[in-house]
Amino acid sequence: MANRSHHNAGHRGMNALRKRGGVHSSEKLVEKTDSRRTRHCVVTADCLDFLANIPDASVQLIVCDPPYNIQLAHWDVHADYLAWAAKWLAEAERVLAPTGSLALFGGLQYQAEAGSGDLLTLIHYLRRHSSMLLANLIVWNYPNGMSAHRFFANRHEEIAWFGKTSKYYFDLDSVREPYDEATKAAYRKDKRLRPESVEKGRNPTNVWQMPRLNGNSKERVGHPTQKPREVIQRLVRALSYPGSVVLDFFAGSCVTTRVAIEEGRHSIACDAEAVAQEYLKKQLAMTNAATVEVSDSLGSDHPVFGRASEAAAISGAGVGAAPNP
Ligand SMILES: C[S@@+](CC[C@H](N)C(=O)[O-])C[C@H]1O[C@@H](n2cnc3c(N)ncnc32)[C@H](O)[C@@H]1O
Repeated sequence: MANRSHHNAGHRGMNALRKRGGVHSSEKLVEKTDSRRTRHCVVTADCLDFLANIPDASVQLIVCDPPYNIQLAHWDVHADYLAWAAKWLAEAERVLAPTGSLALFGGLQYQAEAGSGDLLTLIHYLRRHSSMLLANLIVWNYPNGMSAHRFFANRHEEIAWFGKTSKYYFDLDSVREPYDEATKAAYRKDKRLRPESVEKGRNPTNVWQMPRLNGNSKERVGHPTQKPREVIQRLVRALSYPGSVVLDFFAGSCVTTRVAIEEGRHSIACDAEAVAQEYLKKQLAMTNAATVEVSDSLGSDHPVFGRASEAAAISGAGVGAAPNP
């Protein structure tokens, strides 16, 4: 059977639009602003208490790397995991702007480990109880990891990317992978390819080969499940835009805050453990924007409180939640 991704009407439509120099309608719904002065906070709080303060439709991207009930730490034990997760998933959908996205990290756990929760559980739940759209299941493939004897040693995790509506924002150009010179030279001779596309590089696909952090990685700040900056950076670049708000309510090592600062996005974050504030200090010391202030409370003057009115204007422009296919 032919590969549908190359023949579907949406793909052909986008190609035709780009040839005419046009942009996807989702691009017209966002307002990119001066990203040199951004605002950030990391609050020590339970995620549900924190989320309750955030206005509807005010956040562009949620980076969400939840506990999965695999007894990794005391915060990773839930008697009814799905009942708990359902609460923050509903809140996540509520606070996302119509152009927004949820990037949900996780794995498909070995059954004995899975207990009552893994990424499959959450995807299945969202398909039934949410109108968000699964845009991609990103496979994060890493060369380093634990060995195993009773199954193939695991070398991937998944990131389920949900768009709040079909108008989700996606900046592919910001994350393209450049071709090497030899490939570019060959492609320039191929008359079917547009020279601008050859210069821009390739779509990085939904398989991301990026190492996990080793114990002695320079990026490490002490959190046991810290994600690499490179992974978060690709999400922030592609799924949010300068001046928009990025939220991480399981902040852990505060790597999302670091990336938001570096990429000119506003950010809000929380973690139930106060030690996150210590991790944050280490993250800030590693950025070239070490002078940026990060508050430990969410002030009413944070830009997240100005975004809801923008989003309401967008909804007025006819963007509703699309039903799941
Ligand atoms: C998997 S870790 C996140 C790691 C993070 N993505 C990183 O790269 O460092 C999950 C985090 O959620 C926090 N956490 C667990 N339950 C929480 C809750 N109810 N509210 C807020 N944070 C919570 C834990 O303290 C932990 O730091």
